[in-house]
Amino acid sequence: MYVNCTERGGKLVSTTTTIRRLGDFVGQAVTVQGWLYNKRSSGKIQFLQVRDGTGLVQCVAVKAEVGEETFATCASLTQESSLRVTGLVRADDRAPGGYELTVQAVEAIQIAEEYPVSLKEHGVDFLLDHRHLWLRVPRQRALLKIRAEVERAVMNFLDGDGFTRVDPPVLTPSSCEDTTELFQTKYFDEEAYLTQSGQLYMEAVAMSLGKVYSLGPAFRAEKSKTRRHLIEFWMVEPEMAFCDHEENLRVQENLIVHVVNHVLEHCEPELHVLERDIDKLRAIQAPFPRMTYDEAITWLQQHDYDIKWGDDFGAPHETALAGQFDRPLFIERYPTAIKAFYMQPDPDRPEVALCADMLAPDGYGEIIGGSQRIHDYNLLKQRFEEHHLPQDTYAWYLDLRKYGSVPHAGFGLGLERTIAWLSGIEHIREAIGFPRMLYRLYP
Ligand code: 4AD
Ligand code: MG
Repeated sequence: MYVNCTERGGKLVSTTTTIRRLGDFVGQAVTVQGWLYNKRSSGKIQFLQVRDGTGLVQCVAVKAEVGEETFATCASLTQESSLRVTGLVRADDRAPGGYELTVQAVEAIQIAEEYPVSLKEHGVDFLLDHRHLWLRVPRQRALLKIRAEVERAVMNFLDGDGFTRVDPPVLTPSSCEDTTELFQTKYFDEEAYLTQSGQLYMEAVAMSLGKVYSLGPAFRAEKSKTRRHLIEFWMVEPEMAFCDHEENLRVQENLIVHVVNHVLEHCEPELHVLERDIDKLRAIQAPFPRMTYDEAITWLQQHDYDIKWGDDFGAPHETALAGQFDRPLFIERYPTAIKAFYMQPDPDRPEVALCADMLAPDGYGEIIGGSQRIHDYNLLKQRFEEHHLPQDTYAWYLDLRKYGSVPHAGFGLGLERTIAWLSGIEHIREAIGFPRMLYRLYP
């Protein structure tokens, strides 16, 4: 019920707006619809903190002004109750967001039961069990917002650079990366797998459109329980015809710089909520430092790591290597033997591949993996044999090397790892709405 406010012909006169837009209505009556985030009371005054998805505003209800009934409605509101509040917009420099509402009327839409996610600390398992409710706190809201802006930035950059977005299938008859990490399912009478990467399909469409990219989920049945691994994660996968290793790295560098700048420009309030050191992000500029795999191995050995040529890097190695720099580091030309079957060997040194991983600073690990692809029919066929991959399921992929094959290259950018790094969060599980992790499928 609306009470105690300006009425015209029995109707309330106020504009419904969002908290973000309150600045347009200073001195006017507006209605905001949202949820009660927090409440303080000093007997005759109640301070309602209301959030609506666009921001947080303090609404001040003075008993002598709003009357008993409205004041009682305010008192009945519990954390996360849904409501409509009408009041006068006041500019106030001390208020978060810069505005306050002087309450005229309040309508309780639903009085929430005791909210499980209170404003004090909770254990992580509890929070993950209540992910559907945890998502409402400012920190999680900020992360969802940053994620959306990262996706927007990626699309803006690639769309503006002549790429066409194409959506590869999720159900596939074969693997793209490590076959031990496949999610298997029945596809009527056949075996099928959830996609690990759209890359092979993107190679096909690159031969139609030239420059293409996908943005979608990937699935890895990896038994890894680290702060960098999800079972379901999202990847951006650009693929470019007539592109070599060098050009591939330049695109990656420019894409990352664009994404960082976009986030700095559009997500500053969110980065503040997360207490991210913004100066560190401002330092991210191209060109990025590079090391060859050989140099990385030598550096690690000189710094007392027990590692030899031919070994893959673990998280501590990546953290140490990237820790030398204030911006992402490319490690290029890994041994062919430890990388995927499709990677083009260096013509001068076939034991290494024309590939690179981009490692983010501050221990966030590999955010991009990419390479030039084998475009020679015979070499690719030989790789299938070496990797014991069934030629019939990959026949279409081999076909691409029969009909106007060209040098081409591409990469996969892990969205959650990138968001985690940009946001400065500890674990990538908070970089996606509903994380799918080892032994966690709920909610
Ligand atoms: O290095 P990956 O496995 O490369 C590919 O899948 C290529 N086919 C991509 C391509 O060239 N089109 O994965 C690419 C990126 C990694 O650098 C990492 O950021 C992310 O995907 N990633 C994961 N993110 C979260 N959880 C996991 N389990 C991930 N596995 C890979
Ligand atoms: Mg990789």
